[in-house]
Amino acid sequence: MIEIQNLTKTYAGKVQALRDINMTIGAGMFGLVGPNGAGKTTLMRIIAGLLRPSGGIVHVFGHDMQTADGKHAAKSVLGYLPQELGLYPNLTGREFLDYIAILKGVTDSQQRRQQIENLLETTRLDDVADRRLKTYSGGMKRRIGIAQAMLGDPKLLIVDEPTVGLDPEERVRIRNLLSDMASHCTVILSTHIIEDISHSCNDLAIINKGQVFFRGKPGDMIGLTQGKVWNIVTSGERPNNGLIVVSTLQVQDGVQYRVLGTPDEAYHATAITPSLEDSYIWLMHEAQQDQPVNTAKPVSA
Ligand SMILES: Nc1ncnc2c1ncn2[C@@H]1O[C@H](COP(=O)(O)OP(=O)(O)O)[C@@H](O)[C@H]1O
Ligand SMILES: [Mg+2]
Repeated sequence: MIEIQNLTKTYAGKVQALRDINMTIGAGMFGLVGPNGAGKTTLMRIIAGLLRPSGGIVHVFGHDMQTADGKHAAKSVLGYLPQELGLYPNLTGREFLDYIAILKGVTDSQQRRQQIENLLETTRLDDVADRRLKTYSGGMKRRIGIAQAMLGDPKLLIVDEPTVGLDPEERVRIRNLLSDMASHCTVILSTHIIEDISHSCNDLAIINKGQVFFRGKPGDMIGLTQGKVWNIVTSGERPNNGLIVVSTLQVQDGVQYRVLGTPDEAYHATAITPSLEDSYIWLMHEAQQDQPVNTAKPVSA
């Protein structure tokens, strides 16, 4: 369990990256979703104990991240995959994992070998384990990154935008891999791709400009746009009157628009079932009006 209370972070140069974040993250897969610059990496690095907050409290499995002891204890139970993992290009996959395992304090060589073989198998890198990292594809690099984060058998796995720049097949593979991990440890996954979470997360937060705009289950998020998503067909003119156009499709009798909002009767709109993406777009729109829809309540310690 991760508890975050009144967390703020202001970088030197006065960028306010996090503004009063309050939330509790439980077991399973947690999605942290938001556009570039929202504060995702900042929040993850603070949870991982790699960055000091400007204010507020973070507890990771009961360990207070403000104290050196707490940080030390938490670090031994967490694995982290940064957005940009520096790899050693001339090491092979297996050598790299061995090296990281030693750094993580897995000193028993038998135990180390066992863990590495298991992880190479789960990440499906056993075939390329003896190839140098510089020959790995983007997806393989991301998978070895997940493998190194899982060394030492962490209870918390933090992965920062693991699907960026991957082809759809690799993205699916990474998502499945993380879902498997989430069955026996807490996984916090950040992404700006809504598809990444729609399939795998049971819990999520939408963050924008350092604030949490939604906190809950994907189903609850979809519920927010119930009755607000419509199809409109026109001869070509774009619907306006405060409607948000989500997509446009050429159809036989004109142009079909998927819109969010409350269309005028004159449009003869047809109600449709909202998707998670509709809800995300709606929330981001609300965020731009600076009206949090469902901010988390402070957590009692
Ligand atoms: N080291 C830093 N110094 C100053 N500003 C930073 C630093 N790192 C991030 N920022 C700023 O903080 C905000 C949040 O960044 P970040 O946490 O990286 O967001 P995300 O991961 O969601 O893209 C952005 O405005 C970014 O420019
Ligand atoms: Mg980031």
